[in-house]
Amino acid sequence: FPLQSLNTFGIAARAQAYVRLASVAQLRAALADAALAAMPRLLLGGGSNIVLGGDFAGLVLHMAIAGRELVDSDAEFHYVRAGAGENWHEFVQWTLAQGWGGLENLSLIPGTVGAAPIQNIGAYGAETKDLLHSLTVFDPASDTTFSMDAAACQFGYRDSVFKRPGSQLIIVDVTFALPRRWQANLGYAELAQELAAQGLAAPGARQVAEAVIAIRRRKLPDPAVIGNAGSFFKNPVVSAARCAELLAAFPALVHHRQADGSEKLAAGWLIDQCGWKGRSMGAAGVYPRQALVLVNNGGASGAEVMALAHAIEDDVAARYGVRLEPEPVFV
Ligand code: EPU
Repeated sequence: FPLQSLNTFGIAARAQAYVRLASVAQLRAALADAALAAMPRLLLGGGSNIVLGGDFAGLVLHMAIAGRELVDSDAEFHYVRAGAGENWHEFVQWTLAQGWGGLENLSLIPGTVGAAPIQNIGAYGAETKDLLHSLTVFDPASDTTFSMDAAACQFGYRDSVFKRPGSQLIIVDVTFALPRRWQANLGYAELAQELAAQGLAAPGARQVAEAVIAIRRRKLPDPAVIGNAGSFFKNPVVSAARCAELLAAFPALVHHRQADGSEKLAAGWLIDQCGWKGRSMGAAGVYPRQALVLVNNGGASGAEVMALAHAIEDDVAARYGVRLEPEPVFV
């Protein structure tokens, strides 16, 4: 089964078997098939956070569970649930159209609702974990469906319990708690500047979403036009002492202090300083407008993307002593 149109990097790879899942019943039916259940599994949502290293000798489960609804409201929140297969950006825009703010900073992130909690997608000062109330998972090992609250998901920066090796849980829907007393989250300097430049001192949620969309369109390639998986590396976190050493040698180093005293460095800056921005190796390249994004210039294989990623990691490690960690999942 061809996977090229199912991964945003646009890598031409194939799967041995493929099942599209529009319901939990279809998921259970697929796994009740002894031949399918015995295969290695790859769960695919929007395919926006994976690099296919070659053909997949196993079963691709393509999450397509639809649906979005208001499930409850109380004095503080609207509780809104969406199926794991819903497109993330369309879901966010739908909540805004209903008048429920909260998710606007996460506009235009590629992928699905079900994938959002897996790597705790975040941008412009907001993360999935800030608004997630609970989610429903299917556990193939026990053939049961159950609910998990935010604490059970063990969220971290681009991390959750669903990324732990061996995790088999399949997210089937996600419920968000959207605040009735909404306030704009303008803590991210670039977003505040964008709105200020438009003369919007007290923007509404819709205006914040538009500003986020404008910034992302300027900086990030549209996967429908040029294959990519968003940020290719996580921003590395180092100790305060290590950051001070680096600052002594590189005074322009971009760093942000974390709540625990550690320092988050900007991987895009490190890569840019190593001269990689706009460069290519084979058909894989570094996006000219954002060094953190690797792109498929046409016909790139997963191996080419990985070779470029390793060359960048080696250069950054040699110059700064920091090993960059890829953000997407290698298959
Ligand atoms: N920078 C450079 N050169 C570059 C790119 C960045 O010098 O080519 C510098 C910038 O000047 C800035 C710093 O690096 O001082 C950080 O850059 P930016 O604000 O663009 O954000 P980022 O760290 O590159 C992160 C997320 C993005 C998210 C933005 C906005 C990660 C790995 N990436 O990017 O998330 O949209 O912040 O919040 O945390 C994604 O995960 O796919 C993603 C796009």
